[in-house]
Amino acid sequence: MLQKPRGTRDFLPDEMEARRSVEWRMRETARRWGYREVCTPEFEDLELFTMRSGEGIIGEMYVFEDKGGRKLALRPEITAAVIRMYINEAKVAPKPLRWCYFADCFRYERPQKGRYRQFWQFGVELIGADTAMADAEVIMLAAGMLDATGVTYELKVGHLALMKNLLADLEPAIQRKVRAHLDKKEYDGLKETLAALGKSALADSLISLVECRTLNDAFAIAGDIPGRERIEQTLGALDAYGVKYSLNFGIARGLDYYTGIVFEGFADNLGAENQILGGGTYRLAHLFGGDDVASCGFAIGFDRVMVSLGDAPLRQDTVVGIVCTDEGRSRALEVSRAFRATGIRAEMDLMERGLGAQLAHASKSADFAVVIGKREVESGTVTLRNLKTGEQKSLDLMAAITEVGAHGTR
Ligand code: HAM
Repeated sequence: MLQKPRGTRDFLPDEMEARRSVEWRMRETARRWGYREVCTPEFEDLELFTMRSGEGIIGEMYVFEDKGGRKLALRPEITAAVIRMYINEAKVAPKPLRWCYFADCFRYERPQKGRYRQFWQFGVELIGADTAMADAEVIMLAAGMLDATGVTYELKVGHLALMKNLLADLEPAIQRKVRAHLDKKEYDGLKETLAALGKSALADSLISLVECRTLNDAFAIAGDIPGRERIEQTLGALDAYGVKYSLNFGIARGLDYYTGIVFEGFADNLGAENQILGGGTYRLAHLFGGDDVASCGFAIGFDRVMVSLGDAPLRQDTVVGIVCTDEGRSRALEVSRAFRATGIRAEMDLMERGLGAQLAHASKSADFAVVIGKREVESGTVTLRNLKTGEQKSLDLMAAITEVGAHGTR
């Protein structure tokens, strides 16, 4: 028996309905903030992702050559593609651009719960606004979107400039090594690396920076940086809007394009793969032949949100099974159209079975049966049977629709 590729998943209807309902809540939040959906290709020129994605992601890419010899990659993330599209299609559009997307990404990672080779991101990119309020808006929207799903999480906000300031005198390769130690909280390794360079005091400062939780402490450790006022304004706006977050100046992010504020969300009830959101300010457009436009965005790991939400019972549609005899078939088609027109899910029998078998099937899959035989055709009525209680009545069509509509969702 053939199986799906490792790290991918199939989704049955119940799961798809749960996913769509969570996706809808994210979409609706984005809409209320003025973010409009965009869509980019599933694969792009490899170069788009190798320019500034970071070693981790480059090593995980699905890369292939097409029949024309072009080097292509399945998108490992969507930000670079959105910025490419901005340069190709919307460079002259009035700024800022508020865009969002819901799309699948591909990374060749070792699969486990919450980590897949094909996974979905709900993301947002705010292009062309280089202000504290712009940064704050994106973080507020991130929190709003997660709140709308009902997931419980912790939001951490940091800024790359502080750590950069402390690391400024180190070679780029050593900086990367130091950041990797800090990211994994490998403090012994960090101390060893810096002691070898005669910079033990720096290790202590870095550890204090990562552990400190107030802005004043952070500046006392890292020194004043030019963007201080903007950081204070951004955090002030978050406080004014009531966003709950903690400061964390150890956030390094896996991707290489971030320039300033960075933030990550962590679900309370997930294990190792508990990061459900990541984002920050970045500059990519100038690398792809565009203007050096400032952008800020984030992506939510949609699948991880679903894992975190668990199997919370879904609100199910009320289902009407339309049951008919041969004489009733034409009328049954009209009746099913009338139910659907009011938004009620109506399913006709397709198996050409007798009334008894149709009713037996409907009782497994529906809440009500509407029976239409010769008698109903002649009298212009329908027989509505509540399949849970067994109660049955003869009604005109509108009364039947009203009664089913009043039943609400399960
Ligand atoms: P990222 O942190 O690489 O950022 O990915 C965003 C989210 O995608 C992660 O926080 C995680 O929840 C989810 N994710 C990543 N890898 C997997 C996986 N293998 N399986 C399931 N979920 C996964 C970005 O991709 C940036 N483009 C975000 C961004 C947008 N920054 C600015 N704008």
